[in-house]
Amino acid sequence: MNILLLGSGGREHAMAWKIAQSPKLSKLYTAPGNPGTASLATNLSIAADDFLSIKKAVLEYDVDFVVVGPEDPLVKGIVDFFAVDEDLKSIPVIGPDKIGAQLEGSKDFSKQFMFRHNIPTAGYLSVTRDNLNEGIAFLKSLEAPYVLKADGLAAGKGVIILNNLDDTISELKVMLDGKFGAASKTVVIEEFLEGIECSVFVITDGKNYKILPEAKDYKRIGVGETGLNTGGMGAVSPVSFADAAFMYKVEERIIKPTIDGLINEGIVYKGFIFFGLIRVKGEPITIEYNARMGDPETEVVMLRLKSDFVDLLEGVANGNLNEKSIEFDKRTAVTVMLVAGGYPQEYNKDDEITGLENVEESIVFHAGTTIKTGKIVTNGGRVMAISSYGNSKDEALAVSFANAKKIQYNGKYFRSDIGFDL
Ligand code: AMP
Ligand code: GLY
Repeated sequence: MNILLLGSGGREHAMAWKIAQSPKLSKLYTAPGNPGTASLATNLSIAADDFLSIKKAVLEYDVDFVVVGPEDPLVKGIVDFFAVDEDLKSIPVIGPDKIGAQLEGSKDFSKQFMFRHNIPTAGYLSVTRDNLNEGIAFLKSLEAPYVLKADGLAAGKGVIILNNLDDTISELKVMLDGKFGAASKTVVIEEFLEGIECSVFVITDGKNYKILPEAKDYKRIGVGETGLNTGGMGAVSPVSFADAAFMYKVEERIIKPTIDGLINEGIVYKGFIFFGLIRVKGEPITIEYNARMGDPETEVVMLRLKSDFVDLLEGVANGNLNEKSIEFDKRTAVTVMLVAGGYPQEYNKDDEITGLENVEESIVFHAGTTIKTGKIVTNGGRVMAISSYGNSKDEALAVSFANAKKIQYNGKYFRSDIGFDL
């Protein structure tokens, strides 16, 4: 089978690593990929949302199916683009269509969906400039802290949590006035939930589903989950508090109603669903959906997936996921993200990365790297994900931290307390 994987981050390197282990694979292409995927696949210099160039590549390289890593191509309708194209319509794309991707692309859409299907989530009100006064009244009815969310995609920066009511009302107005462009023309105000978060992933063919290993990610730049939000500084799987009793509730109250809701609404969803959950007094509540896998969670989920990933993806493409079996590695998997100095604010690029040859036991997934004059250099805020197995979280982390120290570049930073709260 020839497979094209879209994306260029640590998530995609981790997926490529797992896909490349499959005996079913003939040739893997990544668009655009990164220096990490280049050792497993052929990188094509095509952006993940350049549909016309993707079409050319799919036909030229005889691609059997396409796997979409990031949300952008999904929200822009890559699945719909393939479905209506005479040359492409027989080629499956693993990912939801444009409507299904709205579960991530519009917070208002996803909240309405959750309420229609009685899926536990925080109370909310969607506000535009037309009902600003109603929004202010809703805020006044809530207790601090206050949660404001840009409705549309805002590169992970669209959620703002504030303690002061007046500041929140001002921020609401700034958002409605276009702080995040069209993405914040509608703002979702939510009740604040207090608890511990985890990410649960499902792969579905539109009828059947399989639950992948759950993971916890660490979003803040500083130790103890402090400081600015990032794309994710590390992850751990399994998550100790997501025990069998908790996961049973997640499946019955959240996963099944979501899959059934999609089916009942006629939304054909073939791909990954990422459930961002929070445990409040032992009960799972849905914070958000994403229409793709998480990053850096994928860097641990792929380590824990024992089954043939291509076989599962084929089950999604062919609608017979129910015939596939899924097995997990019982060990703990962790990943520690090395980031550029200054990230998530302004940071350097083009710093040479050395010491990769000294890494032992960990699997290094590239995220923000590139090759310049034959050298691997930094090219993004999140640079690489140092991923390891262990018989415990601490054992796995010790391996990742030891290797994190062996890799060098100007301004290197990583969080030394990944998994601290588990
Ligand atoms: P989201 O983009 O919706 O995942 O939100 C980003 C982060 O904001 C989440 O991972 C939570 O840490 C936090 N968050 C979002 N919604 C809420 C809420 N209703 N209550 C508390 N924290 C929230
Ligand atoms: N790790 C969170 C995300 O991928 O959005």
